[in-house]
Amino acid sequence: MQTELDRALPSTIVANQPITALAPMQDVTTLPFMSVVSEIGSPDYFFTEYCRVHIQSRLEKHILESITENRTGRPVFAQMIGEDIDHLKRTTLELLNHNVAGIDLNMGCPAPTVYKKNCGGGLLRDPAKVDRIFGVLRECISGLFTVKMRIGFEDTENYERILALVNKHEIDLLSVHGRTVKEMYRSQVRYSEIKAAVDAVHCPVLANGDVSSARRTREILDYTGAAGVMIGRHAIRNPWIFKQIRSFESTGSVSPIPLEDVFHYIRSLYDALRRPWINEKAQVNKMKKFLNFIGQGVDPEGQFIYEARRAQSENALFDICSRYMLSVANRYFADEPYAGVVARLNCE
Ligand SMILES: Cc1cc2nc3c(=O)[nH]c(=O)nc-3n(C[C@H](O)[C@H](O)[C@H](O)COP(=O)(O)O)c2cc1C
Repeated sequence: MQTELDRALPSTIVANQPITALAPMQDVTTLPFMSVVSEIGSPDYFFTEYCRVHIQSRLEKHILESITENRTGRPVFAQMIGEDIDHLKRTTLELLNHNVAGIDLNMGCPAPTVYKKNCGGGLLRDPAKVDRIFGVLRECISGLFTVKMRIGFEDTENYERILALVNKHEIDLLSVHGRTVKEMYRSQVRYSEIKAAVDAVHCPVLANGDVSSARRTREILDYTGAAGVMIGRHAIRNPWIFKQIRSFESTGSVSPIPLEDVFHYIRSLYDALRRPWINEKAQVNKMKKFLNFIGQGVDPEGQFIYEARRAQSENALFDICSRYMLSVANRYFADEPYAGVVARLNCE
């Protein structure tokens, strides 16, 4: 028998504040990254990167660890991506043996290799299939069943129908990335469509897409009426963002981040991601994905990113970091990315 308690969302860190969530990001929201973020200031909720589901799939060890070894003290939702109903059910039951806050279904991934198999964002083309998947999963999840979706595949033709399915199957939390699958990552986010979801569904909605600062969060929440925000790339750049949102919500201001703290963030991340079997050059290269985003707040010319991308060793990398972040007195990290300093994107 399902109890009310099973279906209540976990409480936020500060009572009565909007929910904040770290968006699921493949190869980013791993256990080490979540740990580093939590040392700086956790979001209310974490989501794992997606667990691929197909006939031969098995839960990947490193994704499972981000749940079972998670010491952040915050709830972790496990995300799945797939279209095979039996195997989605099998994976759900496996995940439910672990300490997950809930099961999240990915209906947004825009990678062609994914959507061509009707997974991720590809599902948005087939509401009848979504109806069946939601039905089967809802039946086997007595706790929280959450969905992360985009506003459509090529257009928003199916949006209303899918939002109605969210209600029909009593989804507990809906995260909406305000772009279509075809719009990928860079077009203007359509907050009006997120607002439409808030108006249509009975569950809380997290607004996702270009939520870049605490101030911007408040504007987006005021406009959409969403229950909270889900933040991806801007949390890589600025992991203080969750703490800043809490502070802005209670005091109306945020403290600026000294560049020195950014240096320590990079150091912690480097150490957390270090693996004995990965050689130094590969380790430095692994950092570049993160530095691409972090660098957007370091200098207005994008010189830091330019230099960091060329670093070949740990020493070279941290020399560059210390030149930009430690030998400059009274310099602060930018609250919003500097205009024109663009991070190169990884795929979803
Ligand atoms: C590197 C990267 C990996 C991602 N991996 C996932 C994923 O595994 N599951 C998912 O639902 N979305 C994934 N996304 C999409 C994000 O969760 C988010 O919806 C998108 O980046 C927009 O939010 P943002 O502007 O806050 O980054 C990924 C995005 C990036 C940049």
